[in-house]
Amino acid sequence: MKYSDNCTVVDHPLVKHKLTLMRRKDTSTASFRALLQEISLLLAYEATRDLKLTEELIETPMAQMNAPVLEGKKLVLVAILRAGQGILDGMLQLVPSARIGHIGLYRDPKTLSAVEYYYKVPNQLADRDVIVCDPMLATGNSAVAALTRIKRSKPGSLRFMCLLACPEGLANLREHHPDVHVITAAVDEKLNEHGYIVPGLGDAGDRLFGTR
Ligand code: URA
Repeated sequence: MKYSDNCTVVDHPLVKHKLTLMRRKDTSTASFRALLQEISLLLAYEATRDLKLTEELIETPMAQMNAPVLEGKKLVLVAILRAGQGILDGMLQLVPSARIGHIGLYRDPKTLSAVEYYYKVPNQLADRDVIVCDPMLATGNSAVAALTRIKRSKPGSLRFMCLLACPEGLANLREHHPDVHVITAAVDEKLNEHGYIVPGLGDAGDRLFGTR
């Protein structure tokens, strides 16, 4: 379902049900982790919808045919540390040959802007389709910084996949990267004064890694 020019909400009963389980504050770490993996796989189906195809001559046991196969270089998935790692596991079930990158950012307490502390992506991003993953699109500052950094390598296409977004994060992304489409399971009401999504699900990293 199209939410706005730059955002698609995956409108599916399984996604909605699993997201509700994740939001519950008494959901265990193990369940949260498994559910994130399951939802990510379902979101990945939508996030990869536009991948280009070519045809290859194959032989079935019955006949030859020109059959569709993915065109071009392998897809690249980039996780924003640390919670983005939780999305990768589900996506890799669907696209096991994808190449993986990681980007680490922290928020400068004085300026509140995102500062990069780690960046490791596959060597040649040029012309590849890249999907950046982070469960929560909150202020959008990390997403904007990650996308800006990745664009320096001139990827063929760039998308952003998250579990939850909010209007403020989507507006920030649209302002800085109007060309990047967001795929999410839901768009929540708002950000609170601490930069958390409301009603949200709390701190995705803490819930995923059991550090709360
Ligand atoms: N990061 C989170 O983990 N949760 C939020 O609500 C916002 C940012």
